Amino acid sequence: MNYHGGAVCFTASFDNLLFLKTYNEVDVEVIPETRETQKTALVTGASSGIGAATALRLAQEGLMVILVARRQDRLESLVDEIRSKNGEAAFIRADLTSLEERESVFDQVTREWGTPDVLVNNAGIAWYGYYHEMKWETARSLCQLNVEAVMHMTRRFLPGMVSRGSGLVVNIGSIIGKMPTQGTVMYSASKSFLDTFSISLYRELRGSGVTVSVMRPGPIITEFFDRTEQSPNGRRIPAERFAIPAERVAKAVARLIRRPRKVVYVPFWIGIVPALYNAAGWAVDLAGPLLLRRKQ
Ligand SMILES: NC(=O)c1ccc[n+]([C@@H]2O[C@H](COP(=O)([O-])OP(=O)(O)OC[C@H]3O[C@@H](n4cnc5c(N)ncnc54)[C@H](OP(=O)(O)O)[C@@H]3O)[C@@H](O)[C@H]2O)c1
Repeated sequence: MNYHGGAVCFTASFDNLLFLKTYNEVDVEVIPETRETQKTALVTGASSGIGAATALRLAQEGLMVILVARRQDRLESLVDEIRSKNGEAAFIRADLTSLEERESVFDQVTREWGTPDVLVNNAGIAWYGYYHEMKWETARSLCQLNVEAVMHMTRRFLPGMVSRGSGLVVNIGSIIGKMPTQGTVMYSASKSFLDTFSISLYRELRGSGVTVSVMRPGPIITEFFDRTEQSPNGRRIPAERFAIPAERVAKAVARLIRRPRKVVYVPFWIGIVPALYNAAGWAVDLAGPLLLRRKQ
């Protein structure tokens, strides 16, 4: 595991951002900030896709961002990019499927920066195909990353947030968590778990100053689709043609800092899906298996 620290620089004030009326990037006023008052965000899975876009966005809005993932070259170039835009960032290279590496991330973060103001549990993997053809090792990693790492990181950082009386945990779920589908058995189940975990915690922490939010994105343009196809026995997830840019999710995460919410859909209209699914789940029962079979 490697760690690379960041330097103090000039950024937008988090507190001032609370009063911005609009969320457009151009509206962010850049004012001097000190390390003592600057807010911090820990973003897991920040080496690509939604995590990288979120880290960039939060840095642009004045937070010091701590990036966690495995690909060091990607993390290094993102830190360079953030710094070149006058933001502040550092990275910790870690495999979050490992309990020991997660503990190490917790130790390093709290030692260097204290409890983060924002924790974005974003790192996640998927797999598409028949569950009975899924390698057990892949299923196990999916559970360790999508479920165990989120529970563990949240459990580690929450006490600090609760005792400080402020904090935001954003769990990147998926619309699939509300729409169990063929071909994504483990992935759907992991995101359903995340949904229940987040909403239960949101309720438990009401009045504590800490908010737990779950994001339910639809398809997003990232490496996610290539990766599912490249994993052992994996196929390409069909929903890709409807994908939208990762910056849309990043923008929604930044908005949560100003206006915490329990559940966020990206794009917003995809919020209709759970209701449609409840009313017409029978259609998925009929058409879904055909779609998966066609992919063989
Ligand atoms: N793309 C979509 O359509 C979509 C839709 C809804 C929800 N989501 C969710 O969004 C999140 C981000 O996915 P993405 O779409 O941005 O895909 P992505 O570009 O593949 O990003 C996945 C991130 O997770 C990291 N990661 C994977 N395995 C890891 C491990 N063992 N330890 C630490 N980090 C690990 C990857 O970094 P390294 O490989 O460098 O470790 C990468 O930074 C996931 O939770 C996914 O389920 C995606």
